Amino acid sequence: MRLLSLAIIPVAIFVVFDFLFYHWLPTNYIFDKDVLAELSREVIANHPDGNSTAILIELAPKIKQVYPFVNELNFEDWVYNNAGGAMGTMFILHASISEYLIFFGTAVGTEGHTGVHFADDYFTILAGQQTAAYAGALEPEVYLPGDIHHLPKGNYKQYAMPSGSFALELAQGWIPAMLPFGFLDTLTSTLDFQTFGRTVYFTGKDMIKNLLNGKI
Ligand SMILES: *[C@@H]1O[C@H](CO)[C@@H](O)[C@H](O)[C@H]1NC(C)=O
Repeated sequence: MRLLSLAIIPVAIFVVFDFLFYHWLPTNYIFDKDVLAELSREVIANHPDGNSTAILIELAPKIKQVYPFVNELNFEDWVYNNAGGAMGTMFILHASISEYLIFFGTAVGTEGHTGVHFADDYFTILAGQQTAAYAGALEPEVYLPGDIHHLPKGNYKQYAMPSGSFALELAQGWIPAMLPFGFLDTLTSTLDFQTFGRTVYFTGKDMIKNLLNGKI
């Protein structure tokens, strides 16, 4: 009898986790990666010169028309992001427990590790390009404006973005588990506590705002 109950505990834990993370969590997703990619492609087509500033300025209100709760784009609230050895800059359009939507990119160029996340990541290139490769790949995958680079939950790659590359990034999964990856390079390497504070502030503010509106 005791053995039986011992066996039940791991099974029960598995059932609860499976329900929470694979069945309940996805019911909270509100962004549609294909809608976002379609809007991105429309705007990219209007800017054949690949002017990233003009693309972002036109795309942000179009996203807000479909998803009115996203933050209005401004260039004061951008923050550096150091993670996995890569450095870029980002603007948070939306952050909640199960999703985030950001503009991410670099005027300078960067390269690093994607991180290993309990989330699906959809990285739609807006300007420039991204290359990526699994450990065994000797040729890079190349993503150009309008392409979605989907990094499935639990997968990880090396990636690079040359100078002037920007993307619209949607992550869907257990976002709190991604935050240590987003912060530890700052706490252990750059010691840029102003960036750390601003990132915590913008992320926390949006997560709390969305939670209060019932968005997990
Ligand atoms: C890119 O677009 C922005 C915003 O429309 C504009 O201010 C800037 O001059 C453009 N840059 C180039 C190189 O055309």
